[in-house]
Parts: sequence; structure tokens; C-alpha cells
Amino acid sequence: TPGHYETLLLDIDQDGIALLTVNRPDKLNALNSTVLSELESTVTRIREDDDVKLVILTGAGEKAFVAGADIKELNTLNSESGEELSRRGQEVFAGFENLGKPVIALVNGYALGGGAELAMACHMRIATDNAVFGLPEVGLGLIPGYGGTQRLPALIGKSKAMELILTGGQVKAGEAMSLGLVNGVYSTEQALDEAKKLASKILKNGPVAVEKAIEAVNSSDRPDGFEKEAALFGELCDTEDFKEGTSAFLDKRKPDFKGR
Ligand code: HXC
Repeated sequence: TPGHYETLLLDIDQDGIALLTVNRPDKLNALNSTVLSELESTVTRIREDDDVKLVILTGAGEKAFVAGADIKELNTLNSESGEELSRRGQEVFAGFENLGKPVIALVNGYALGGGAELAMACHMRIATDNAVFGLPEVGLGLIPGYGGTQRLPALIGKSKAMELILTGGQVKAGEAMSLGLVNGVYSTEQALDEAKKLASKILKNGPVAVEKAIEAVNSSDRPDGFEKEAALFGELCDTEDFKEGTSAFLDKRKPDFKGR
């Protein structure tokens, strides 16, 4: 059996395609510490398993891919634990980016905050037509902390990335397609098949070449930016605005930011 997880489902088919599903549908698959740990151990498992050739990563249910980091857990962070969480998530996500096997995100609904960041850490993205992308962190008194400040500008350009990050606004599947954020948009019924079609086109090619191609494309990243992102995320976890933003979400009310 592929392994037992509390918050993940892992299926490996005969073609060597691993379907990895974040499975907390009643919390819209929000990334709590269990999900992060299990993603980390799955990456290791998949890396070491020669039978796995490619990964499709998705979220359970029809509503969300991943609705972000678990805001209940964020609420209690301070600058030290905030920076640590940011670094930890960055590392787990980098595990997918540097897996040595292609990773396709199947974005089947909300991909917000850490969820959008997880999708962006994947090598390609196939979206369902109800997919919604956004980095709402500023509305919580935060910034994206799982690589979003680095990967979004790389994917769609600095200008539009700045707009999305500063407004916290959402982008639907069609606009995500025209921005180049996703590789295709399909109905919920068809999207998995389309992701598998894309997978099979990739898997026809030389596996070592595919691995090295990913490595070469990834080497254009700027690692300093990730350091900066984690440090700033940590600083924000000591602000009143952060406490207010996350508490307001949990109390289901609008935040009242004081600017400190
Ligand atoms: C914890 C979450 C959650 C999250 C949803 N839920 N998103 N819990 N963390 N990120 C929970 C809700 O509290 C609710 O639980 C249940 O999931 C269903 O969500 P609803 O809000 O009732 O659904 P709906 O009204 O349809 O709204 C969907 C939504 C909304 C628009 C996606 O849930 C939402 O705005 N979620 C937060 C999105 C967000 O801000 N993400 C970024 C987080 S910051 P109950 O128990 O009430 O049923 C981040 C930082 C990453 O990701 C970097 C860290 C270092």
C-alpha cells in the first residue's frame, strides 16, 4: 500500500502517475501542520519510489484545491514561529519543485494563499472551470509566506503579481489562463483526464532529460527572495494587524486594521 496518512490520499496507477490529494474537505483542505508534515514525508516517499514517474496534486471535494494555510494555526504565531513556519513551508514546497519528477497541480476550486503558493510550486497547473486563485494574505495583515512573492512574479510578471498581492484580489480560471498562470482549463469532469493526457505526453520523453529540464528551468529562481519573504512574514506575526486580521477571519467579521 502507498502509505497511510491522516490528511492525504495517495494513489499510484499502472502508468506510474501518483495522484496525491490533500484531504481535509470540511476545512477546504487548509494546510495545517499535519498536512505540511505529511506532504513532506510523501515527497520523500515519492522521490525514492522508482515506480512513480509523475505526480498530480489536487484537493479533496469539488470546492477547493487548498484554501491556504490553516488560519487557526496562524493566529497564534509570533515573529519567531512565523518565520520558522514560512521557512518550513517553503522547504516542503521546494520538495515538490525539486522532486526530480514532474508535478502537475490539478486546481479544482479555491487556491488561496498557501494553496495558490502550493499550486505555483508545481511545474504546471491544470484548472477546473470553477478554480479561483488569490493571495489574500494582506487582508489578514500578512504577506504570502510560502514562496508566493517569488513565484507569482516569475509566472505572470511583476506588474500583475504586485496587483494581486497588494489587493489580495481573486482571479478566476479564465483570467488565470490568459495570465499564463495555468496551462489549461477544463470542466470538473474532464480535468483529471486532461492532466493525465499532459502527463502521458511528458512521460513519452527521456526521464533523465525531463528531470534535467526541470532542474535547468528551476535554476532561474532567486533564493535570496525566499529568505527575505520568510523574515518579513515573521516580522508581521508580531503586529497587531496580523492578530486582528486572523482573529477577524475566525470570528467571521471584517478586520479593523490600525496600521501597527
Ligand atoms: C482555516 C479555513 C480556511 C483556512 C476555510 N476554512 N479556509 N480554516 N484556514 N485557510 C474553513 C472555514 O473556517 C470553515 O470552517 C470551512 O473551512 C468552510 O469555509 P467557509 O468560509 O465557510 O466557506 P465559504 O463561505 O464558501 O468561503 C470559502 C472561502 C473562505 C472564500 C475560501 O473559506 C476563505 O476566505 N477562506 C480563507 C482563505 C484565506 O484567507 N487563505 C489564506 C490564508 S493565509 P467551519 O468550521 O466554519 O465550517 C496563508 C498564508 C500562507 O495561506 C503562508 C504561511 C507562512
